[in-house]
Amino acid sequence: MKINKAQFLISNTDITKCPDDGKPEYAFIGRSNVGKSSLINMLTNHKNLAMTSSKPGKTMLINHFMINDDWYLVDLPGYGFAKRSMKGRAEITKIIEDYILERKALTNLFVLIDSRVPPQLIDLEFIQWLGESNIPFSIIFTKADKMQRNKLDTNTNDFLEKLKEEWEELPPYFITSSEKKIGRDEVLNYIDEINKSLTE
Ligand code: GTP
Ligand code: MG
Repeated sequence: MKINKAQFLISNTDITKCPDDGKPEYAFIGRSNVGKSSLINMLTNHKNLAMTSSKPGKTMLINHFMINDDWYLVDLPGYGFAKRSMKGRAEITKIIEDYILERKALTNLFVLIDSRVPPQLIDLEFIQWLGESNIPFSIIFTKADKMQRNKLDTNTNDFLEKLKEEWEELPPYFITSSEKKIGRDEVLNYIDEINKSLTE
């Protein structure tokens, strides 16, 4: 799929103020600093469409980006950022939960997993909660450029093995690098397929 147009539309803390045109949206979630905003820039071929930072906790709002005048990419705040205050963490958790549980236009949630680390409990618990809440999701392993092939395979396989303990069927998953533009076509084609299935 070609991205002809990508525009920032609106930032929100309140899901009732998100766009109400009913166009399908694809959101990115994961631990702070996992690379959600960078991935949106990579997919859209823009350097600074979504704001990124080497420090965790950069994205604090629900950010809608309109793609090809037809569907949305949505950048969300990360979870699991220990240095935020208790109040700050509770606010972010509420934004994320409200969005995921109540946003009707949410067509697929991409859960980003850092390919550099072994399976993390916080990610596994988050995915468990998605399952219990019946949220359609897929997995994106990030920062693959930072890893040697065998270590990358070990981490991704270990994570998928952990999922298999809870799930009969694995969700679709992608291996990506925003730095090296790995996995771009795969993720965009996957979105394209879903978009097409919605209009059939
Ligand atoms: P929050 O908004 O704080 O939750 O973080 P985020 O998940 O949006 O992460 P962000 O995209 O801001 O990236 C965090 C850091 O990781 C930045 O320093 C990025 O440059 C770096 N980064 C993101 N993706 C990649 C990647 O594929 N490869 C490498 N080497 N670095 C990456
Ligand atoms: Mg971000």
